[in-house]
Amino acid sequence: MQQRMFPITCDRRTLERSAELLARRCTEPLPVAIIAGSGIAPVFEQDVVERIPYADVPILPQTSVAGHQSEILIVRFSSGTALVFAGRYHLYEGFSPAQIAVPVVLANTLGVRKIALTNAAGGLRHDLRTGELLIASGMINMTGRALVQQRPSAITLSNSWRERCTDRARQQSIAFAEGTYIAVHGPSYETRAEVRFYRLIGDCIGMSTVHEVQAAIQLGMEPLTISVITNTLSDSPRTQPLQHEEVLDASRRAHHRLRALLDVVITTAKEPA
Ligand code: HPA
Repeated sequence: MQQRMFPITCDRRTLERSAELLARRCTEPLPVAIIAGSGIAPVFEQDVVERIPYADVPILPQTSVAGHQSEILIVRFSSGTALVFAGRYHLYEGFSPAQIAVPVVLANTLGVRKIALTNAAGGLRHDLRTGELLIASGMINMTGRALVQQRPSAITLSNSWRERCTDRARQQSIAFAEGTYIAVHGPSYETRAEVRFYRLIGDCIGMSTVHEVQAAIQLGMEPLTISVITNTLSDSPRTQPLQHEEVLDASRRAHHRLRALLDVVITTAKEPA
């Protein structure tokens, strides 16, 4: 059975003060919030109209991982305006599931109902190539930590906004795959034995997103996740271990395709369901 109360461990007053501060800095309607995964924030750079450092938002701690810059960006695409969290929190940095979920809770407090969660992920399925995008249809939480206890630890990702995004992306011939995202704790990348196991249960693997999805569902928001496949995982041994820099590089190379998909995401977020 699911827990009834939403486990927000953050201080209500601080949350409200943070939301008021953001509302003053951004007066236009925000149909969607986006959390930028590793190396993904530069995709928004040319469209940033306002920057708010996490240091100015009392509810948000600083992030510590390379490729995460700790800033809220107000981004104006031709398709609409979005609130972008350029900086995500991970379990392996020492954050709890509730702390990881704070950007989602903050967006919800601002009245945002749709949230796109982007991430870098390793491709487990044979046909996935570096630079491809995958929209998750499900997630399996293998992190050992949960925001909300679920038995089994699997989440189905389906809501009308997600369906409209995938339909529209297909109509516009924007290539993307669908599949199951496995969330692991990190920070170390998988051993060959783990890869063999995870391949049996999922299509791609990463170290984030699952607690943000749990929060969004718990708050009645519509989540959509987009994974940028930054490396492929196979049984055949790599000559060199995977490095975070390689993940950031591959993520940057997928920017063009990701932008096209994010345009669809923002356009559909503005439309009535
Ligand atoms: N494993 C886990 N997390 C990741 C990977 C990976 O191969 N690539 C990018 N994030």
